[in-house]
Amino acid sequence: MAIKITGTGSALPEKIVTNFDMAEIVETSDEWIRERTGIAERRISTGDTVSSLAAKACEKALAMAGRDAADVDLILVATCSPELLLPCCACQVQSAIGAHKAVAFDLNAACSGFLFALNTAYAYMQTGLYKNALIVGSEVLSKLVDWTDRSTCVLFGDGAGAVFMEFSQEDEICENGRKAGIECMVMGADGTKGMVLACGERGLENPYAKEQEAVHPYVHMDGQEVYKFATRQVPACIKDALDKANLTVEDVDLFVLHQANVRIIESVAKRLKSDLSKFPMNLDKIGNMSSATIPVLLDELNRDKKLKKGDRLVLSGFGAGLTYGASILVWGA
Ligand code: UT7
Repeated sequence: MAIKITGTGSALPEKIVTNFDMAEIVETSDEWIRERTGIAERRISTGDTVSSLAAKACEKALAMAGRDAADVDLILVATCSPELLLPCCACQVQSAIGAHKAVAFDLNAACSGFLFALNTAYAYMQTGLYKNALIVGSEVLSKLVDWTDRSTCVLFGDGAGAVFMEFSQEDEICENGRKAGIECMVMGADGTKGMVLACGERGLENPYAKEQEAVHPYVHMDGQEVYKFATRQVPACIKDALDKANLTVEDVDLFVLHQANVRIIESVAKRLKSDLSKFPMNLDKIGNMSSATIPVLLDELNRDKKLKKGDRLVLSGFGAGLTYGASILVWGA
C-alpha cells in the first residue's frame, strides 16, 4: 500500500512588493529586513482571494497528476485568512473547480496548517475512507497585518500551494529500495503560548453581552518568543518523527521547512547537524505565506526537477497556536 503525492501546484498574486517599497510605507530598510529575515520581496494580492488562489493551485496539482476534479474524494484547505467565515474555503474551491463529489472542509493551524491537513488526509486515507485528496495551504495575510506595524507587515506575503495525494493498493519500491509514500508524521500544540502570535476576530456583540475588551483585528506577535519556540521545537519534532520512523538525519535528502526566517532555518540545520544545502529556501522572493509556504516550495522544487524518485523529504513547520509538526515521506511522483 502507498499513500503518495502525485501532483503539486501553486498560485501567487502578480504584484511584487520589494523591501524598498516597504520602506516607503513604514520606517524600515532593505538591509534590516534582509539581515533579520532573509526576505527581499513578497507577493501581495490586489484582488486575488484565498479561495481563488487555492482553486488555481488545485487545478495545477490535478493537471500534473492527470486527474479530473470530478474524481476528487476530499478537499482540505488549511487557512487562517479565509475571505468568508461561512461557507468554508474548501467548499468554495469545490465549487470553483467542479469537484462535486468531494467532501470539503477547512482546518486552521496557522503556519502548521498545511502539515496538519496533510496528516489529517493521510490518516483518513489510511482507514480507507478516501482514496485521494487535494490538500491546500492558502493565505491572503496582507489583509490581516497592520500596515503601520513594521515589526509584522514586512514579514508576510500572499499565495497558495496544493498537493494531490492518492492511495494505491500496491507498494511502489524506488530504485534506491525505499518505498514511496508518507512514512511518519508528528504534530503538536502548546495553547498556553497562544497569545505570542495572535489575530483577533469579531468581538461578542449581542443584546445580552457584557462589555468586552476591544478586539485587535490585526496580527500581533512577540517575534522573539516565536523565534525561540521555532528554533527549539522544529528540530525536536523532526528528531521525534525520525526516531518514530527508525531513521536518522543522514537518511534525509531534503528538509522542506516553513519559510518564516532564514535564521530560523539555519539554526534548525545547525541543531540537526545537517548541511544547509539540504534546506531549500524561497522566502527571499515570497516571504512568509503561513500555511502556503511548504506546498509552494514543494511545487517549486518539483517543477524545477529538484525532487528525485526515492528522495526522502522531511516537511516541518511551526506557527500560531502555538503549533508544530513534521511529516516524513519518500518522493514517488
Ligand atoms: O510563521 C511564524 C511567524 N513568525 C515568525 O517566524 C517570527 C519569528 N521571529 C522573527 O523572525 C524575528 O524575531 C523578527 C524578524 C520578527 C524580528 O527580528 P529580531 O532580531 O527578533 O528583532 P527585534 O524584534 O528584537 O527588534 C530589534 C529592533 C527593535 O528596535 P530597538 O528596540 O532595538 O530599537 C525593533 O523596533 O528592530 C526594530 N524593528 C525594525 N527595524 C527596522 C522591528 N521591525 C523592524 C523593521 N525595520 N521592519
